[in-house]
Amino acid sequence: MKHLAFLALFTTMLLGCKDQNTQNERHQPAPIAIETSTEDLTDAIQVNTIQIGSETTNDKNRFHASYPSTAYNFVNTHQEEFAQSYLKEFQNNIKDGNAQAIAGLDFGQHFEIIESTPSILGFLIERYTSYGNNYNTQYFTHLYDLEANERLTFSSLFYPQENFDTLAAIVKSKTSAILKEQINTMEGLSESDRAAVLKSAQEMIAEGTQANDNNFHAFSWDASGQLTIYFDKYQVASGNHGNIEVTLDPETYKNLVAKKYQYIFHIPEEKPETSNPIAEDTTTAQNTYTIDCSKEPCVALTFDDGPAKHTTQLLNILRDHDVKATFFVLGKSAKIQNNTLLRAFREGHQIGNHSWDHKDLKKLSEAEILSQIQKTNDVISQITGATVEVLRPPYGSFNDLVKNQAEMPIILWNLDPLDWKDRHPDIVAQRISEAKVNGIVLAHDIHQSTVEAIPAVISNLKAKGYHLVTIDNLFSGQPLSKGKVYNSRRN
Ligand code: NI
Repeated sequence: MKHLAFLALFTTMLLGCKDQNTQNERHQPAPIAIETSTEDLTDAIQVNTIQIGSETTNDKNRFHASYPSTAYNFVNTHQEEFAQSYLKEFQNNIKDGNAQAIAGLDFGQHFEIIESTPSILGFLIERYTSYGNNYNTQYFTHLYDLEANERLTFSSLFYPQENFDTLAAIVKSKTSAILKEQINTMEGLSESDRAAVLKSAQEMIAEGTQANDNNFHAFSWDASGQLTIYFDKYQVASGNHGNIEVTLDPETYKNLVAKKYQYIFHIPEEKPETSNPIAEDTTTAQNTYTIDCSKEPCVALTFDDGPAKHTTQLLNILRDHDVKATFFVLGKSAKIQNNTLLRAFREGHQIGNHSWDHKDLKKLSEAEILSQIQKTNDVISQITGATVEVLRPPYGSFNDLVKNQAEMPIILWNLDPLDWKDRHPDIVAQRISEAKVNGIVLAHDIHQSTVEAIPAVISNLKAKGYHLVTIDNLFSGQPLSKGKVYNSRRN
């Protein structure tokens, strides 16, 4: 799918807030702000994560779900339930014996912010599910009316029903046109084969585009008012057509939107500005370090899977102890918690690439691997203004394709405290405190317990005379090569 451009999203948020700033100031989630003080770089919407299975243990069944944490309890409750329902599905699959698949189960859920204004909050949630080698993708839109404290369905936006029916008919004919074109370009089919395939497709389309909220459960719009409807695989076509999405220009649907909700789509009169307001006055990363790891004992702490809800607390701890670390972030979460990421960067931490949405890169095609890496680098660079130098593939899982596509050194670790499994600060602190000179520690800032372990880790390691540094600092004097794999500095 085409993800919303980062800039478009940013502009959407600003526009939305300008339109709506008269109401309900008190509940207003702060828009992305360009702050000069890092103290204020807290994101209004943060990322919660449930993670099962990982890295050095041999858990071949993995679950990794992110969901939004907001200032609104009714939203949080619904999101929590939604994520838990997916976890339940994962656990039931394991119970049912599906877990015997050789490549293991891999369930992932991540989200994007469609809209964030004082009155409306909208998320596009993507779930990818693999029972073996391939991923099946599903989208869901969760839209909330923050003044009425309720969830909005697609049909409520296109009320009355006849408007919804008209919209569905437009979507149906657009879907038919897309499928027709796909079928016409299929190879090895006779004319009568084509006619038969098309006929069966028409039946699926008719059913899959009927005007009901079940069919229209996933949609998003961008800053220019383009509305996209996402269909599940098999909803409007056989599986080989993949996920079909239909995009509508504002002109085609704007008269069908319920009066009450017309403002939501805020179709702009002029083009959104294209400059990047976030990266404008970045202080460039200083590659001069006061600690020389070729002469002094160093350890690199690394934190994967963020930025997330507990990252701010971790940044406070690191700042108070004057310690630098490396954050291997997900592109999708960086886009959501861009202020948190910017703060981490400005406070001297290194930002590395941990893929776009935590898929196992070994299960992906060359093009998909490239996209996972590139999109993440782009988002990070847009926020920090700096180039990303290091990659850590999710689960430490990679093959030659990944090494070739990475164009970056691959940074693994030589100490895994299993902080996803044992959620006790004392246990995690004790394990990390075993770190050896020149070592790289794997940790996850998505867990409260890990963050709580860090003050003890810092004092234990400092007591041994160790310096806690970034990956870049750890390897100073030992240049890293693209496509090579590292788990510690050479002694
Ligand atoms: Ni990870």
